[in-house]
Amino acid sequence: MTLRDKQIVVGVGGGIAAFKAVELVRELGRRGAKVRVAMTASACRFVGPITFTALTGEPALTDLWDPRYPGEVHVELARWAHAIVIAPATANLMARAAQGFADDVVLATLACANSPVLMAPAMHERMWRAAATRRNLERLTSDGVHFAGPVQGALADGSVALGRMQEPAAIADVLAREVFAVRDLGGVTILVSAGPTLEDLDPVRFISNRSSGRMGYAVAAAARDRGATVILVTGPTSIPVPAGVETIQVRSALEMQGAIASALPRVDAIVMTAAVADYRPAESKPRKVKKQGETMTLELVKNPDILAELGRTRQGKRPVLVGFAMETHDVVGYGRKKLVDKRVDLVVANEASVGFGRDDTQATLVGREGDEALPPMTKTELANRILDRIKAKL
Ligand SMILES: Cc1cc2nc3c(=O)[nH]c(=O)nc-3n(C[C@H](O)[C@H](O)[C@H](O)COP(=O)(O)O)c2cc1C
Repeated sequence: MTLRDKQIVVGVGGGIAAFKAVELVRELGRRGAKVRVAMTASACRFVGPITFTALTGEPALTDLWDPRYPGEVHVELARWAHAIVIAPATANLMARAAQGFADDVVLATLACANSPVLMAPAMHERMWRAAATRRNLERLTSDGVHFAGPVQGALADGSVALGRMQEPAAIADVLAREVFAVRDLGGVTILVSAGPTLEDLDPVRFISNRSSGRMGYAVAAAARDRGATVILVTGPTSIPVPAGVETIQVRSALEMQGAIASALPRVDAIVMTAAVADYRPAESKPRKVKKQGETMTLELVKNPDILAELGRTRQGKRPVLVGFAMETHDVVGYGRKKLVDKRVDLVVANEASVGFGRDDTQATLVGREGDEALPPMTKTELANRILDRIKAKL
């Protein structure tokens, strides 16, 4: 999607990367977009509003009570915007936006936005990793906010770490590709399985794995944004499920199998990101198991291989089947074996070290036509690459 004639509000936050918002505004202008800029009070300490005014030909807005606007400037800006880009999104702005604060021109515009919002966070790695920032990121993501970056690179204090603002051209790319996504999956129903399964030993203990659910939720959200009807079958996770998708919460592999089987007649494609436990306890005790001898032996029985079963029993080429292979070694080799053994259309192969619990990932798409090793990217970008492949097979 081109940005030509798109009306973009750029909201600038108060971080060192505010100087890169200048380049972002120029880049959006070069791509044919019309840009208006709103700034927080802190942003004005880093870059002068006149810089943006000169670049856009429109006064940069810094004040909710700007006397040049007889009406409500934030309402007018939000109505004008085809999209709002917050760059840099400071930890503070993310926190306040997650709460719905509206006490400056950037936040008030966000609070009455009815167009998509893209945030490009930039902050010290410790701020990015802070528990409060993680919570705010998850809240904003489930509210439908898109994110570009941050990326690994040199930070303001000279350290090299995760927290650097995505480059302006890359932010414009995400805007074009993800935010103004072509609704090219209208009429298609996609089932996504996500998260771990929990296999109960007794009422208080279970066997599980470290799957966070992030990859599956990213696929579900991206498919929704591209117009698909999405059914998300998810094991227990600690992150909010994406809005606007039909969600079926399950616990064990057997429950996941049942939920998928009942949705199956409706679906055109299945993306199995769930980390389904291979085994479950032979018996789940009704009462808590008491401590006994020095060692304990657990008897496990095999869980159904949901993906292989779908591959074996599907009629013709429907539904399109995508599996994931997360391994610690020979990732692509195992991916190819899975593709053949389980009779699926595509395997997304990645290493355990780059997958679990992170927002970014690196994968190889293993298909019948060959392998495509992808560069590091966000899970949303990977989700869109997978959806492109599904679209080609529908
Ligand atoms: C020199 C300097 C650099 C800063 N850089 C950042 C930054 O990169 N990211 C961030 O989240 N906060 C940064 N801060 C802190 C923010 O400026 C502060 O939280 C401010 O309240 C943000 O306001 P705003 O989000 O309303 O723009 C920086 C502060 C100073 C003094």
